[in-house]
Amino acid sequence: MDADFPETPIPRKRFLALCTSALATLLGLLIAVPALGYFLAPLRGWMGKSQAGPEFQPIGPLDSLPVGQWKFASFEVVNQDGWEKARSRRSVWVRRNGGTDTDATVLSPICTHLGCPISWQPDRSSFNCPCHGGVFDANGKNVAGPPPRPMDLLESRVEAGQLMVRWQDFKIGVAERVPVRD
Ligand code: FES
Repeated sequence: MDADFPETPIPRKRFLALCTSALATLLGLLIAVPALGYFLAPLRGWMGKSQAGPEFQPIGPLDSLPVGQWKFASFEVVNQDGWEKARSRRSVWVRRNGGTDTDATVLSPICTHLGCPISWQPDRSSFNCPCHGGVFDANGKNVAGPPPRPMDLLESRVEAGQLMVRWQDFKIGVAERVPVRD
């Protein structure tokens, strides 16, 4: 044995204890890191990065729609919040305006009064709400009954011929168009 560098073997019990704590720490980290990410995900919005809201969803080729007529279309909306994804189906009123290849109007079918579903009446050239007699003209403007504002216009665009829509809920019963976050 060298007198300057005495051998000091780690006792077997202490070695096993060190291995156990290292393993426990590793396992703890493996569990804690994703869990921390999950709980901190909502903070992204406060830190300037907006949370992923509904993205643009395809609802079909625009040129398959007749020009100047309202059609009812349904599509799936995916909301991502942190690690959670929620899927739901939404419907919209769509009109191909025909001005250009990308000219379309997409309206929410939710009545701006109290949220009943609005339907298009081609024989009257108006949108009508069955609940309290609300009437909207052929462009979605409120013209009779209690609805306090026009039908809500939704963002849309055309990509490779596909009409894409971004769903958005708005506050009902108020004159201003106020988006509601999910
Ligand atoms: Fe449409 Fe009242 S909910 S008029």
